[in-house]
Amino acid sequence: MASQPTADPGAIDLDQLDLTDPQTFLEQELPPMWRRFREQSPVHWHPTEGLMPGFWVLSRYRDVMAVYRDNRTFTSEKGNVLTTLLQGGDSASGKMLAVTDGVRHREIRNLLLKAFAPRVLEPVVEGVRRRTERLVRTAVERGACDFAQDVAEHIPMATIADLLGVPESDRGYLLTLTKQALSAEEAGQSVEESLIARNELLLYFADLAEDRRAEPTEDVVSALATATIDGEPLTEEEIVFNCYSLILGGDETSRLSMICGMRELIEHPVQWKRLRAGDVTVESAVEEVLRWVTPAMHFGRRAVVDTEIGGTRIKAGDIVTMWNTAANYDDAVFAEPDVFDLGRTPNKHVSFGYGPHFCLGAYLGRAEIHAMLTALRTMVTEAELTGPGRPIHSNFLHGYSSLPVSLTPDQAGLARSRTA
Ligand code: HEM
Repeated sequence: MASQPTADPGAIDLDQLDLTDPQTFLEQELPPMWRRFREQSPVHWHPTEGLMPGFWVLSRYRDVMAVYRDNRTFTSEKGNVLTTLLQGGDSASGKMLAVTDGVRHREIRNLLLKAFAPRVLEPVVEGVRRRTERLVRTAVERGACDFAQDVAEHIPMATIADLLGVPESDRGYLLTLTKQALSAEEAGQSVEESLIARNELLLYFADLAEDRRAEPTEDVVSALATATIDGEPLTEEEIVFNCYSLILGGDETSRLSMICGMRELIEHPVQWKRLRAGDVTVESAVEEVLRWVTPAMHFGRRAVVDTEIGGTRIKAGDIVTMWNTAANYDDAVFAEPDVFDLGRTPNKHVSFGYGPHFCLGAYLGRAEIHAMLTALRTMVTEAELTGPGRPIHSNFLHGYSSLPVSLTPDQAGLARSRTA
């Protein structure tokens, strides 16, 4: 976060900031911008142009938590990110966990929670550890790499494929579709091509679910395909949208956390030394990377009834956005929030949200960052940036799609890893 281009924070006019424009997040230095919001207009009305409605912007930790906590007053069913909220809704509403509320949300979440039980996750996490170690080892042996493309990109998708039980032979195809479906802009393709890829993904999961219904195994697709609620199976749409949601939820967020984690370790050599020396635990380092990076910058809701937040009246139907990237730097909760401190405790960041929609993949996301930090501290003595990196263009996610680095090997750690 501290690495964003700097604008003079004293000159920020909050009414001139356009939080729907990805460019804003590249031009502004975020911690001072959010400090200004918290101090001057903690429950801020953000107008939009044309026919789109405006929306509320929450930047204080306590207000963000209050909205996350209460899905009766603030629903996700009209969308849970600015883009869909402003468009008026999400096509997966009422079927996909993240945009479903009420009884159905609890029922499907309970099913998925069972499918995320330690018994299922144990081999998946072991796979994360082995894959990450191998990728980092190869990069260190070469001495230089694009940490985004050569290392981080290969971890979360493979993890989700393990979790879903996608056969090895289909993974290349799935990866191509996911890339086309999710990053139309970067891949330089049309919106139509991206829609086609999305449909093919849904069809792929419909087929896989049918196979698993006939012959279930210990994976998430089998769990969804064979589950019943009050004697009724899930609908095909519920099954495929929820498979798809794990890709949506689990790929980019984890990838960006790892890439930014690498970058911040380079930018903060004293913290890197603490991690290498074992002065801080890898567990607390994982939490500070998550707080500092805040890969999912915001989520949002719609108010169902007239209500109030921090003394400001909110009308039924209003869009409310919770800025994790602001809450995680709120000095009412975090001592010296602008200091990157891998030993920070307590560290109750909101990077995984809070309450009924708390991230289902938090355990896995943490395991991925843990595996990366462990591999780096074992096999690398020094790391340097060899180019500026390419920041992604988004008002929702924060991070880099390219990060060229050089890595100096720790020969003893490398040798241990080769023989392990
Ligand atoms: C929900 C962040 C990794 C699957 C969420 C939410 C946040 C979040 C903030 C709450 C959304 C809301 O309240 O509207 C992150 C971050 C991750 C990560 C920062 C990585 C560092 C994962 C992974 C998976 C996953 C690895 C799956 C394998 C989900 C799902 C939900 C969710 C299914 C919806 C839960 C519900 O609505 O009940 N995530 N996530 N996430 N996440 Fe994650």
